[in-house]
Amino acid sequence: LDNGLARTPPMGWMAWERFRCNVNCTEDPENCLSEKLIKKMADRMVSLGLLDVGYEYVSIDDCWPTKERDSNGRLVPDPTRFPSGMKALGDYLHSKGLKFGIYEDFGTKTCGGFPGSEFYMSTDANTFAEWGVDMLKFDGCYSNINDMEIGYPTMEFFLNKTGRPILFSCSWPAYTQGIKTDYKLIRENCNMWRNYADIQDSWDSTYGIINHYGINKDGFSAFAGPGGWNDPDELIVGNFGLSYEQERAHMGMWAMMASPLFMSVDLRSIRNQSLALLKNKRLIAINQDPLGTQGRRVWKESDVELWVKPLQTEGSLAIALLNSGNQGTPKRLSLPALSLMLTNPLGYNLTEAFDGASMGSVFPNDTLKFSLNPTGILMMTAVPKVSSANLLMS
Ligand code: GLA
Repeated sequence: LDNGLARTPPMGWMAWERFRCNVNCTEDPENCLSEKLIKKMADRMVSLGLLDVGYEYVSIDDCWPTKERDSNGRLVPDPTRFPSGMKALGDYLHSKGLKFGIYEDFGTKTCGGFPGSEFYMSTDANTFAEWGVDMLKFDGCYSNINDMEIGYPTMEFFLNKTGRPILFSCSWPAYTQGIKTDYKLIRENCNMWRNYADIQDSWDSTYGIINHYGINKDGFSAFAGPGGWNDPDELIVGNFGLSYEQERAHMGMWAMMASPLFMSVDLRSIRNQSLALLKNKRLIAINQDPLGTQGRRVWKESDVELWVKPLQTEGSLAIALLNSGNQGTPKRLSLPALSLMLTNPLGYNLTEAFDGASMGSVFPNDTLKFSLNPTGILMMTAVPKVSSANLLMS
């Protein structure tokens, strides 16, 4: 979507995966979806330095409103959980330098059963703009999927009409996958789009998504670029289900796939190691590379697969070797540099992507040896060497 937003993959925090539809503030006041929780997460995003490295949107997911609209047909934030109202919450986030994300649904109800936007799109777009909303995640439960090609562009029309820049996150292709999905139309109308099942707190779920992106059915990867991104769903780094090795693989792959980076984690109690991964500037730089090309799976042999993402600097690549298997000892690999797509006859300087350590020079005819942990990743960047002749000419 050409609205000036999301020129690189959007980054932020999103409530859903970790906090879900917890509306019970009586019994669980610290974890229920409320302005108190959202403000706390916002404070932590700033104090932990996450805003400084690019995480800027704070996105409230489903279950924030009352079950009924008001007499003017407007959405009403639940008064016990959001007593100050959404405008005040937006002001709070903006005062911290953060951006305000909210959730609605294209159908008659949200997935959690709250009022949907169907027949109220103009009203809801205006309400969100009045509240200072900067991002709308627009889900697709309780709708006719045949209406999506009209409905999502209609919502974008009303958002655009408010005059407020609002990043538009569409769940549209997640509902039409396997049926007819017009990614060109989706890209024209959305800044990011979910196209697969919800992430859950496990490696199986995480790898299932990676594999879906590896298969790349109908070539959806090609539609990613400045202004519009495929969204494999939130980052679950720092939660209950992944080992550290798997968190590295998850974060590394979301960087390779030029994915929106929305953490869904409790920032009051996140482990230091997980926090450091989320803040890893080298991985973020690969994710945010201005060229905006989504990495692709080049080959997969048994449990080992190679992903390559072209970077902006002429001929540079981010390269990932992923072991999706769980056999309990590292795999020893001996691979020709050519099989890693390192074809430049002048060679490359290789750098380890997580810690920035130099891995030396490599030439197309070299053989590289690696040890790849179970459910682990090896990631590097390769910058082509420039011959002195080229240097003289430039
Ligand atoms: C769907 C979406 C999730 C989340 C829930 C909320 O399942 O895919 O990301 O927004 O609805 O109910």
